[in-house]
Amino acid sequence: MGCVVADLKVRFAGLELRNPFLLASGIWGESGDSLAGAWAAGAGGVVTKSIGSLPRAGYPNPTIETYERWGMLNAMGLPNPGIEEYPREIEVAQRAGATIVGSVFAGDAAEFARLATQMARTGVSAVELNLSCPHAEGFGTEVGGTPEDVEEIVRAVAGAVKIPVIAKITPNTSDPAALAQAAERAGAAAVSAINTLRAIAIDVHLRRPVLSHGIGGLSGAAIKPVGLACVWQIFEKVKIPVIGIGGIMTAEDALQYVMAGARAVEVGTAVAFEGVGVFGRLARELSSLVDDLGYARLEDAVGVAHRSA
Ligand code: DHB
Repeated sequence: MGCVVADLKVRFAGLELRNPFLLASGIWGESGDSLAGAWAAGAGGVVTKSIGSLPRAGYPNPTIETYERWGMLNAMGLPNPGIEEYPREIEVAQRAGATIVGSVFAGDAAEFARLATQMARTGVSAVELNLSCPHAEGFGTEVGGTPEDVEEIVRAVAGAVKIPVIAKITPNTSDPAALAQAAERAGAAAVSAINTLRAIAIDVHLRRPVLSHGIGGLSGAAIKPVGLACVWQIFEKVKIPVIGIGGIMTAEDALQYVMAGARAVEVGTAVAFEGVGVFGRLARELSSLVDDLGYARLEDAVGVAHRSA
């Protein structure tokens, strides 16, 4: 081993990615230039910031707390320019040649279908549904947190667009696989898991929460075992492909997700900490790791950990 460069290309759900590392939604993805920057740095594809029907300013500061070694807590409040404005940003990333997944959030199934239709018109390769923001009033888990909600929303969107629909599901539930099964029944092409874990930080001197919104979402290294368990359980229950998300900082983290059943992964907090240079590093590291383990193609490692469990 060690003489060929392992093939990191992945194909699933109608997507073809040059490597399995997608820029996660919400990180570095609000402007076309930042999406293009992640692509230029080597991302296999980029997921946009979640876009809604109308422009939103988001919550006041502070919106982010970082924990150097293990994670990040955020409650941004879904700031975004709205779907009328956003196509011009997508165009910038398209001109750079990026493979783009458009993320949308909405308050009900009909609004999701409308937004996804508008997003599809921009020419994105797939649409990812944010069913899982853990703290936005009227959005995220409040509207997409149960199997019934997921099924209704995904069915409406899958009936409205021709591009692949990816349902991004929450870990803030007792049965993540049931959410994935609902998405599969309703026609999702793939599921992505996980979004952030509902969390809070308290400042004892101020005697109040650190973030202006109070409750936020935890991401980063601390949540990797949680994400892995969700992907593991989902892989055992659905046939549609799974995209793994949560605390991927190294190639070994990514391969753990692949062996648990993921076909690709999204990287967020590592980009926030390290910048988009992380994509080149991860692809290089994964290529040699996959090669060292004797796989000709990354795809050959998908789900292998289940065979010995
Ligand atoms: C935000 C955070 C999330 O975890 C998410 O899924 C969507 C939005 C935010 O605060 O903007």
